[in-house]
Amino acid sequence: MKSNWPENWDTAVAADRAHVWHHMTQHKPYETTDPTVMVEGRGLRLWDAAGNEYLDALSGGVWTVNVGYGRKSIADAVRDQLIKLNYFAGSGGTVPGAIFAQKLLEKMPGLSRVYYSNSGSEANEKVFKMVRQISAQHYGGRKSKILYRDRDYHGTTIGALAACGQQQRAESYGPFPDGFVEIPHCLEYRRTDGTDAPFGEVAARQIEEIILREGPDTIGAMCLEPITAGGGVVLPPEGYWDNIQALCRKYDILLHIDEVVCGVGRTGTWFGYQNYGIQPDFVTMAKGVASGYAAISCTVTTEAVFDKFRMAPDDPMSFFRDISTFGGCTAGPAAAIENMRIIEEENLLTNTLEEGAYLGEKLAALQDEFSIIGQVRGKGLFWGAELVTDRITKEPVPEVIMKQIIASCRKQGVLVGMTNRSLPGFNNTLCLSPALIVGKADIDEIVNAIGVALRDVKI
Ligand SMILES: Cc1ncc(COP(=O)(O)O)c(C=O)c1O
Repeated sequence: MKSNWPENWDTAVAADRAHVWHHMTQHKPYETTDPTVMVEGRGLRLWDAAGNEYLDALSGGVWTVNVGYGRKSIADAVRDQLIKLNYFAGSGGTVPGAIFAQKLLEKMPGLSRVYYSNSGSEANEKVFKMVRQISAQHYGGRKSKILYRDRDYHGTTIGALAACGQQQRAESYGPFPDGFVEIPHCLEYRRTDGTDAPFGEVAARQIEEIILREGPDTIGAMCLEPITAGGGVVLPPEGYWDNIQALCRKYDILLHIDEVVCGVGRTGTWFGYQNYGIQPDFVTMAKGVASGYAAISCTVTTEAVFDKFRMAPDDPMSFFRDISTFGGCTAGPAAAIENMRIIEEENLLTNTLEEGAYLGEKLAALQDEFSIIGQVRGKGLFWGAELVTDRITKEPVPEVIMKQIIASCRKQGVLVGMTNRSLPGFNNTLCLSPALIVGKADIDEIVNAIGVALRDVKI
């Protein structure tokens, strides 16, 4: 690519180096090296300003670009909509907002209302506010607490960080608001109960103990990722979700599923929770909703929850008093409609299941070859490989080694990820989430690059 690279992008690189503050990044090294500035993407491929080509196994770094780069039909849909009407505040409706809500809810039986905003964090904050308002106006201040899980992440704002199970994301940013209570993770590979009882029951029992300790009467909602993403790609043990649903019903706790990563196809179903036959009260989503072609997030809920906000029409404080200015941008739902059409027309859910199974097999074969891979786990096109120095003790691989593996893959032209500033001592899971259009040749290239990196690494 570099030989016929049409432009000199040095100016952009210099401007980036001088002025842009990148997320999750230590900038000191940029005093002597250039930051990566991405220029173009097509399908699963990316090109940076230095002319390097990459196969992106992360869908834009943070599991977002589900339908791949360079989708002209999404760009056209957004462009046409912007010319017609770019914006109107969420106090009113817009055509793409209404149409997308309808199409989305057709995929989510039992849910019937969509509240628009711009980011996963914001979508989750809406739930926290709804739960608190329900508590204040319907339970006399009881049932206001939110349970969140160790290893789960729900966003970057102070409220979302109060519900953060990744200690390194929250550290130094407190004090946080009260009313958020941590419950244990469900990673069976690292269970600490010392029994061999079915872990789906053990993990739920550990949660029930906390519910009883806090008092069920104080707890309004439980906020969980269907599969924990940045906390190590944690799949639920057998029976876990049935038990969670039962706990929520038993103690009258609203179930909030954070689908910011799993939503819109990533696991081979429209939503991650649909793999487990559960019925949530809230579902939040962002990243893959429009594959990063426009900013959009949705807080979806039931008619029963929605009803609580229109029961007292004479009370001016009874409706949901929340505003998201850019929740009224029409680019988001316009892009989301086309994104959904692409997933349906190109059978990307089927592709996710088929190619995801292939990726799982390839990773399992890699595990047979390299003892550094302690466990491989995943669903659809959402996979993690937890690396350990010793399979018996399960001692996590040091971060410096993880970084060498990522750097080696990158040098080979493949972008893979790792748990990043999540859990002290446990940032040891390689993460893979290629776009849902991925094929076997791409998967071979991704897994081969990891194999080369593992072969070269010295612990
Ligand atoms: C599960 C989950 N929830 C919420 C968020 C926050 O989304 P955003 O960065 O769009 O605010 C993320 C971001 O990575 C996430 O992984």
